[in-house]
Amino acid sequence: MIDFWASCAGLSTKALQLLPPEAAHHMGMQILAMNPTRFFRPGALDHLDASLRVQVSGLGSLPHPIGLAAGFDKNGIAIKGLAGLGFSHIEIGAVTPRAQPGNLQPRLFRYRSDRSLINRMGFNNDGAAKISSRIAAQFWSNDICPLGVNIGKNKDTPAEKALDDFLQVHAVFRDLARFFVINLSSPNTPGLRKLATPEFMAEIARSFGPEIKKMWIKFDPDMDRNSFQKLVEEAGNGGWAGMVLTNSQRVEAPESGGLSGRPLFDRSNQFLDWAWEVHRGKIPMIGVGGIFSGRDVLEKITRGANAVQIYTAFAYRGPWVVANLLQELAVELPRRGFSSLAEARGSQFA
Ligand SMILES: Cc1cc2nc3c(=O)[nH]c(=O)nc-3n(C[C@H](O)[C@H](O)[C@H](O)COP(=O)(O)O)c2cc1C
Repeated sequence: MIDFWASCAGLSTKALQLLPPEAAHHMGMQILAMNPTRFFRPGALDHLDASLRVQVSGLGSLPHPIGLAAGFDKNGIAIKGLAGLGFSHIEIGAVTPRAQPGNLQPRLFRYRSDRSLINRMGFNNDGAAKISSRIAAQFWSNDICPLGVNIGKNKDTPAEKALDDFLQVHAVFRDLARFFVINLSSPNTPGLRKLATPEFMAEIARSFGPEIKKMWIKFDPDMDRNSFQKLVEEAGNGGWAGMVLTNSQRVEAPESGGLSGRPLFDRSNQFLDWAWEVHRGKIPMIGVGGIFSGRDVLEKITRGANAVQIYTAFAYRGPWVVANLLQELAVELPRRGFSSLAEARGSQFA
């Protein structure tokens, strides 16, 4: 029976890949919004080995490290269906205070032979009020699967008012989400990345007060080492929950936008290494970028990530991706001589 559903999932992934990427994504989300995992879900998720459990401060104890990256369910329409596919945590958004349409289509491009995507979506989303009501109506339990909100600023909000946007979105989701991610790293909102300075991070931390311990910060992979390491220091000084490393890489060809998927793997790993040089394991990290296999998951953990997230692999490997990655990870872990992920974390720097 399990094989039957796995084959259906495989076939539907192939069928969706025949559609233009944004249409395929939209259709996949409509199916997931009906929460089909009420009726069937990957069997591999039922008996997870305790060695895969990870502790992520703020998120709690997770049965495994693999979460859903921001941008996949921007509007929080399918969180139950996604949790049913096995994600250990889900980040919705980016959510901005007011709804906005994003950039003109086409704005999502698939490069199958590279296993990559380029997007210039531009924070298309339904706005904080509508999305939060939708989450509330789904009776979400953060104890089953912690929910995070990726917070963006509206395109027409001037840079000097960006902090107000962040505070507004946080206030709306305060009682609904377990963690928040301030997005200073999307390549598709003009001027956003310029806000990634230690001074602005300190201002954010001051404004959020004690709530800063729930706030993660997501950085881009286009910074130089020195500038990045100053931000890592500030994340430690300001008491941030942790860092999400990294967002997509800015490219101009063959399309302009953010590059994700396999070509991002090494670059995003480099940022884990650079961060570790500064904090030596003290600041929690979620590793994102180019994960396609259980081995890739382990690579990020040995470079110091406490948990990981995926986006592009979901688009290519389909709805069984978490179950498949976990099966691969369960083989890879002992093969590399580790008895648990906790033991593996940061081991490359030992
Ligand atoms: C279509 C698309 C939309 C995205 N939207 C967001 C977003 O709104 N906020 C954000 O922080 N990251 C966003 N991302 C970046 C992903 O969360 C992730 O950091 C990046 O894709 C690298 O992971 P991957 O190689 O597993 O895809 C988006 C990525 C894609 C492909």
